[in-house]
Parts: sequence; C-alpha cells; structure tokens
Amino acid sequence: MKRRFFMQLGGLAALSSTIPRLHADSSPAASFSITAKSSEVNLVGPDFPATAVWGYDGKVPGTELRLVHGEALKAKINNALEVPTAVHWHGIRLPNAMDGVAGLTQPAIMPGETFNYTFTPPDAGTFWYHSHVNAYEQVGRGLYGPLIIEEKNPPKADRELVWMIDDWRLLDDASIKDDFGGGHDRSHAGRIGNVPTVNGRFRDVVKVQSGERIRIRIINASNARNFALSFGDLSPMVIAIDGQPVTPYKPDEDIVIGAAGRVDVMVDMTGDPESVSPVVDSFYRQSFDLIKFAYEQQPLRENPLDSTIALAGSVIPEPDLTDAIAHDVVIAGGAMGGLRQAMLDGKWLGLREIAQQGYVWAMNDIVANKLDMAPLIDTKKGQTIKLKLENQTAFPHPMHLHGHHMKLLSIDGNALAEPRWVDSPLLMPRQTIELAFVADNPGDWLFHCHVLEHHAAGLGTLVRIT
Ligand code: C2O
Ligand code: CU
Ligand code: CU
Repeated sequence: MKRRFFMQLGGLAALSSTIPRLHADSSPAASFSITAKSSEVNLVGPDFPATAVWGYDGKVPGTELRLVHGEALKAKINNALEVPTAVHWHGIRLPNAMDGVAGLTQPAIMPGETFNYTFTPPDAGTFWYHSHVNAYEQVGRGLYGPLIIEEKNPPKADRELVWMIDDWRLLDDASIKDDFGGGHDRSHAGRIGNVPTVNGRFRDVVKVQSGERIRIRIINASNARNFALSFGDLSPMVIAIDGQPVTPYKPDEDIVIGAAGRVDVMVDMTGDPESVSPVVDSFYRQSFDLIKFAYEQQPLRENPLDSTIALAGSVIPEPDLTDAIAHDVVIAGGAMGGLRQAMLDGKWLGLREIAQQGYVWAMNDIVANKLDMAPLIDTKKGQTIKLKLENQTAFPHPMHLHGHHMKLLSIDGNALAEPRWVDSPLLMPRQTIELAFVADNPGDWLFHCHVLEHHAAGLGTLVRIT
C-alpha cells in the first residue's frame, strides 16, 4: 500500500510545473509572534487534495526565524490548537527554563494560551524549532520550523537555501495517516513515511544558474527517516554539522543526515545550462530523487568563485579529557534487540510486561517512562563528561542532548581525524561512539533518541547539572 502510493506519485511528471525560488531573504528581526494552528497545505502537488496539517502560523515548515548572531530572540507562541503544546529550540545552548520541554522545563501552553520565549543564541548556525509535547504526533503533523542564526561575516555565496526535509505518511487522498505512535513504529524504525518533502513540497525543483555558489542549510525534521544524500556530479563541501562549523571538506560518501540533524553545504553549480540534476537519497533500500536542480539558460559565471567557504570556528568550551568523568551508556531493546528485562518505575520487569505498557527500549537497563525521571548523569557545573554510547539494537538512533553540543571523538574505536561538535549524532546499529562535553549549562536536560516514537517508547534519560 505504501509502496503503491509512492509509485503512483512517481508516474506524475507534471509535478514540477511550478518552479518556486527558495530565496531566504527575510530581513533579520528579533521579535516574533507565532501561532500554532491547524491549516491545509498542498504537499503532494496540484493533482492531489490539500493535506490538513498543524503548523506554526499554519505553514509547513513554520515561519522561518532568522536573526543575526548576537541578537536576542523573543518569540511569543500562541496556541490556537485544541491540544497543549510547547516549543523546543533544537540545538540552541539556552537557559534551561527556555528549553520548551513541557513537564520538565515549563508547563504546557494550553489551548488559547501564550508563552514568551526569550534567549540569546550563543552560536551562529542552522537550528530548528519544534513541538516537544506528544512530539511524535505534533512534529509528525507539521509543528516545526527553521531557526537560522546568521554569522556576522558569512562566507560569500550567491544565495542561500534552507531545505527543511520531512517525511509524511499519507493516505491515497493525501491526508495524514492517523496512526501516530503505533506499536510497530515504536519497536522498529519509527514512523517512516511515504512522501518525503523539502520545504513542504514533494519532488520540488529549484532553478539554478551555472556557476552559482549556493549555501544550502539542510535540516531533517522527520520523525524517524534518516537521509543519505548524493548530489550527482556536483561536489558539495560540508561546512557545518548540527549548526557547528567544521573545516570544509568534500565528503567521499553520501551526506548522512539523521533525524533532527543538520548539515550546511556550499555547492558550486557546475552543471550545464538547461540541464537537470537530482539530489538522490539512498539511506534505505529504495533510493529516490528528493529534489532537483534545473539550470537556467544563462550561466552566472564561467569559473567558480575562489573565495573561502570556511566559517569562523566554534565558541563552545573544549572538553579537557584529563579530568573527565566517564559514563558508559548501553542502548538496548526494540525488535530483534534481545533485551530480556529492564527497570520501569524502579522495578525489574520482563520485556513482555514492559511492552504491554508501550515501552521497548532502555538506556543502561532503565526505561524512560516519564520526562522528570532520575537522571542517568548527575554532575556539577563545569565538569567534563566523556560519554561512550553503545547501540546494541538493530536500529539507528539519532541521540540528542538538550542544551549542549558534544564533541564526537570516535566511531567504533576509530578516533576522528577532526573531532566535531554534534547535538544529534546518528548512532548506527551495533555501533559505539565516544563523545565529550563540558557540562556548563545548569538544569535538567533531556538526552533522548530523536526517532520520536523511540523516545515515547522509553529511549531517553536526563542529564542533571547543578
Ligand atoms: Cu529536537 Cu528533545 O528535541
Ligand atoms: Cu533539542
Ligand atoms: Cu531510536
């Protein structure tokens, strides 16, 4: 059924008749008033009905929030939904009370109510905001948007695109399949959909000119789908990961963006005028064109720009491993995971009893059945933490820590030549990674799998910093 729908859409060549330009040129502003509400948007194209969604200002993705590094963000969130909500600012190192986790850092914003978020993002980069109440349903229905903190001196590009990727599970009438949080999604790969969109459009086409240099900020807002993108003959240079600068490099494999992850690339459009070239995803067995570039007749320039593409370095405090406290964390459970028993609410239970309550995952044998659980890590402010994460399960898990970035040091025992900052590292099945960070931001912070169904099914914990 899923497959049939996908194929059926595949036959529609006319989907690309409108060719929107994705200019991201909203002028920097620090104050926003955003309303979470239901609306209808056309995701699949003119031959299908519009889809009923929940969106920030009724849009999918929600209103782009863009400010210049150093500016404060003041966001008034109005809840015009019929359910409680709250907004989390993913990847921002902000004060705990602004983190937007209802039931942990604030009460939920009830229908008809508002909440004012105010903070000054310490890092420039590509971030996003999303609901953190019943996230697997609220994000799954469209409650997310880009949060862009511009560098004061960005590298030169002819233009910038923000690509917010989502993965919808739609029925044949293009309505959202209303089976959020089902048992199979919880215990397997999460809610994998059948209609991948970029900026709320299926199979979009971006007009480009030969010779153009484009910065693309790619944000994966999917509940669960990971992406591995290839740009064909183009040579995108990765300049930032999870909002943090990296020394620009040309990836020798596809660019992997796990759920909740971000990658900034700088691409020189080297194709011929009037040619078309797709960006292809091949993370899973069936690869597909996510989006296409269509070259205009007129080239912009003959030879690519030769100016630097590097971003200024990160300002996050470097972990000093000589006085680090080490924590080893084992992730277990799920289908084919071999977890036999775990602790739920302080009691050892067999997997069957745990599963009856909707939980299937554990971190160090503890199932997260509430947000304000006993912390797995409880530490003093300023302490350096070294974290070893071992995935004993059969599924990938993008593991997200709130309020901090972590330095990714090694993958399966191989030290990275250049350790990099991450906030949502994708931990592949049976993989072990090592991370380190300075616990410099006081509060109770979630640390959870960003496959939103996995978090709801127990894959999370708390990091407490006092
Ligand atoms: Cu993107 Cu707990 O969040
Ligand atoms: Cu977050
Ligand atoms: Cu997971």
